[in-house]
Amino acid sequence: MVEEEEVIAKKRYEFLEDLPGIGPATAQKLRELGFHTVESLAMATARELEPAGIGEKKALAIIRAARSSISVSFVRADELLRMRENVLRLTTGSKPLDRLLGGGLETQTITEFYGEYGSGKSQICHQLCVNVQLPPERGGLNGAALYIDTENTFRTERIVQMARHLGLDPEQVVKNIIYAEAYTSDHQMFLLDNADEVVKENNVKLIIVDSLTSHFRSEYIGREMLAPRQQRLNKHMHKLIRLARAFNAAAVVTNQVMAKPDVFFGDAVHPIGGHIVAHTSHTRIYLRKAAHGPVRIARLVSSPYLPEGEEIFKITENGIEEVSEEEKPKSRRG
Ligand code: GTP
Ligand code: MG
Repeated sequence: MVEEEEVIAKKRYEFLEDLPGIGPATAQKLRELGFHTVESLAMATARELEPAGIGEKKALAIIRAARSSISVSFVRADELLRMRENVLRLTTGSKPLDRLLGGGLETQTITEFYGEYGSGKSQICHQLCVNVQLPPERGGLNGAALYIDTENTFRTERIVQMARHLGLDPEQVVKNIIYAEAYTSDHQMFLLDNADEVVKENNVKLIIVDSLTSHFRSEYIGREMLAPRQQRLNKHMHKLIRLARAFNAAAVVTNQVMAKPDVFFGDAVHPIGGHIVAHTSHTRIYLRKAAHGPVRIARLVSSPYLPEGEEIFKITENGIEEVSEEEKPKSRRG
């Protein structure tokens, strides 16, 4: 692609050591802190570089240099606009669901799927891992996926099924999914903190954390743990958003909630992570099961600019699919 070539041509610093003021020893320390690429340094704050023995002034200079060499910057409104113009869309596999999302999942932002067990969060994640590999004309991003799995729910067999249905070579599709199981919340954070290189080298265009909250929920118990938990979650989410921006990737997190069907929707569910997760994830979708069967209801709960709305989809052998007119409950027929 011409555009990509231009970006590469403009890049002046390829490795950490190329940046002014970074020698091999400092580069090593930065890597230990999780900064493996110039992109990740461009997104860093001066304070984050302090543990590498870099003073504030020098840190700011390094960050500035790193920023100057990547394609996007994050400060001025005109640049913000330019950045928005680079936003790409990834299909969910269901046209109505894509419509609800304004054309699919956006890159450079976090999309959160929350809902009770079996509502389809992980199934959507699997589907997205396949779809991201499609060419843009089929709604994909021609990229790879990174799947951070906290509940050991990732199934290669399921990917194979979905890939076959789309006429893709399952063997190839499976190779383009980089998988990591996170054993604890600390490990989960560690994985993401060190993901930049893997993202860059493999052209990862989709980063999934499924589930974002399960470890945090089981490890941080009780009122007094609430504040530290939120702080850690906040940090984790910010790392994710920075990766998504630096590499123009889509980021997806899942979040389990208990459904209380007797309560009106607005109060029915309390996603764990509360406000911090809500504010950091830019698009939130609430999933719930229809009365029975494969049909699921997706509700766009918050988005920076899209109206709230609902659409249905179904989970089948083939993956995430649209519901045909005949299959729709009467109330939803258009
Ligand atoms: P938790 O992680 O437990 O919170 O649930 P989740 O929201 O991640 O649910 P998940 O995405 O794992 O959805 C599980 C549901 O998807 C199952 O109950 C099935 O209805 C459906 N499903 C999963 N795999 C298949 C499959 O191979 N074929 C079909 N037809 N349906 C499947
Ligand atoms: Mg799941």
